[in-house]
Amino acid sequence: MVGSRVPLTKAGREYKACCPFHTEKTASFWVSPEKQFYHCFGCGAHGTALRFLMEYDHMSFPEAIEDLAGRLGLAVPREAGSTQDSQHAPLYELMGRVARFYGESLAHDERAGRYVGQRGLSAETVQRFALGYAPDAWNAVLSRFGTREADRRDLAAAGLIIERADGRGEHHYDRFRDRIMFPIRDSRGRTVAFGGRVLDRGEPKYLNSPETALFHKGRELYGLYESRTGGSLKRLVVVEGYMDVVRLHQAGITYAVATLGTATTPEHLKRIFRLVREVVFAFDGDRAGRSAAWRALQHALPEAREGREIRFLFLPEGHDPDSLVGAEGREAFERRMESALPLSEYLVRELSGESDITHADGRARLAEAARPLVAKVPPGVYRELLIGRVAEVVKLPAERLEALWQDGATVPAPAPRSPARARRSAGRGSLVRQAIARLVRFPSAAAAVTEAERGGLEGCPEPGADLLRALLDDLRARPLQISAQVIERWRERPGGEYLGRVLEREAVLNDADAAAVELRAALEKLAGLGTERRLQALEAKSRAGPLTSDEFKEFQMLTSRKPVRDGK
Ligand code: UTP
Ligand code: MN
Repeated sequence: MVGSRVPLTKAGREYKACCPFHTEKTASFWVSPEKQFYHCFGCGAHGTALRFLMEYDHMSFPEAIEDLAGRLGLAVPREAGSTQDSQHAPLYELMGRVARFYGESLAHDERAGRYVGQRGLSAETVQRFALGYAPDAWNAVLSRFGTREADRRDLAAAGLIIERADGRGEHHYDRFRDRIMFPIRDSRGRTVAFGGRVLDRGEPKYLNSPETALFHKGRELYGLYESRTGGSLKRLVVVEGYMDVVRLHQAGITYAVATLGTATTPEHLKRIFRLVREVVFAFDGDRAGRSAAWRALQHALPEAREGREIRFLFLPEGHDPDSLVGAEGREAFERRMESALPLSEYLVRELSGESDITHADGRARLAEAARPLVAKVPPGVYRELLIGRVAEVVKLPAERLEALWQDGATVPAPAPRSPARARRSAGRGSLVRQAIARLVRFPSAAAAVTEAERGGLEGCPEPGADLLRALLDDLRARPLQISAQVIERWRERPGGEYLGRVLEREAVLNDADAAAVELRAALEKLAGLGTERRLQALEAKSRAGPLTSDEFKEFQMLTSRKPVRDGK
């Protein structure tokens, strides 16, 4: 699949090539056909076959599924709504034509051209971002694109004209007039909306397209398309304005995006972390910037986890990224990003500012304020580290702080595993991992698992057993054929990232039947392990006093199930 896009050479069981996501001379792009996975050791791009189609060919998820299934000779059950794109084809097409019209108007309007020049934008930048100009008229778009009734309906649906009914009847006029136009493109480069800036006079300074069938502002990021097509992407910097994005790109920081007059939403962050592991939020140093940063932090917490970097850059008062990169240049701006505050530091710094932490009650207040924030972070290494950092500041052992939080917890947080227990069971945990690896590699193996084998997992206390149970139940209820589908379906679920890592790292025989046998063997051993534990607990209890009759029955049942071992 990847081979039809990139020239691959065979290297053992895998293939290698020059990475299509960044420019390089030596091959560091690896493809594993068995695992339907690619990985670039140069730029870190990696993912499933599905992801490759989405990134490289800019396909939507349903398109990628269909393409891949076609190659493997599988049929994809159609879901309602998958025809959405073709349904809106006329609107996309209209947006494209209007964007071109705005572009031509900019080339022909002297005043608009002068303004763009004054803002320091080069012809190349204008081209790259397809900047335009909406003429100073009430019907420039209307008269060109809205001659028929049906056309006017499309223009209104695309948010390009405004409909108004008054005493004289219904009439229409252009939404954007006398503005520099910034086309907002989706991940495939299609114009889905516009932002328009006044040249000198008028309110509001920036006018955006309304939400339409094509445009949901909580989802799109201005400049994301341009960032993705600008070469390798290692990180993204999130800024506030259109002009900031455009100027940063022009200065060589080709990984800048902006939210569209809204706070960063969790959905934005999900999109960002599908592409990169590192994000820097850049905010103005003023009060508005600081409060926007705090909102961004709150939305970022659910997305924080090991392997991801989230940092906050505060610009000097009176500057925005546009003016700062103009004054200092790319290198200085990038140096500032290098030293931006990590999320954890920003969090404790803000909270410390609110309470006097030289006194015990100030530290207690800080601990209290941190609790709901930390609870938003998914359980895992990152959360443990964050707890450790807060504990350090409030001068309590981390375990003590966690215990306090849990006692009075208002937010029911899943209990994080204590490091001691994780260590003790690290060896046996690999049994769970083995089972998961086989399931992810050969999802159809789930069908071979019997009710009894599944039942044996119930109550299994091994780390990761809950994920294994969830995965197994999911695959039994909604079977899948290939690894990439599993990874995609689980992408947003807890444990989804872990599945990807296991698929990449764990070696599994390339044989579906063998995998099913091994999977069942692992499940059986896990069930045995659970039995063993429970038996030990019951034995210990019986030494301290009599068992209840239920416990006694359970004890007998478990002893009969326990495999007979030598010497016993
Ligand atoms: P700013 O007013 O800081 O604009 O708004 P800016 O990007 O620095 O613009 P220039 O340099 O004056 O041209 C930042 C962002 O907030 C949104 C826009 O996305 C803008 O880019 N905004 C601002 C609006 O949506 N409407 C407005 O009226 C103002
Ligand atoms: Mn500005």
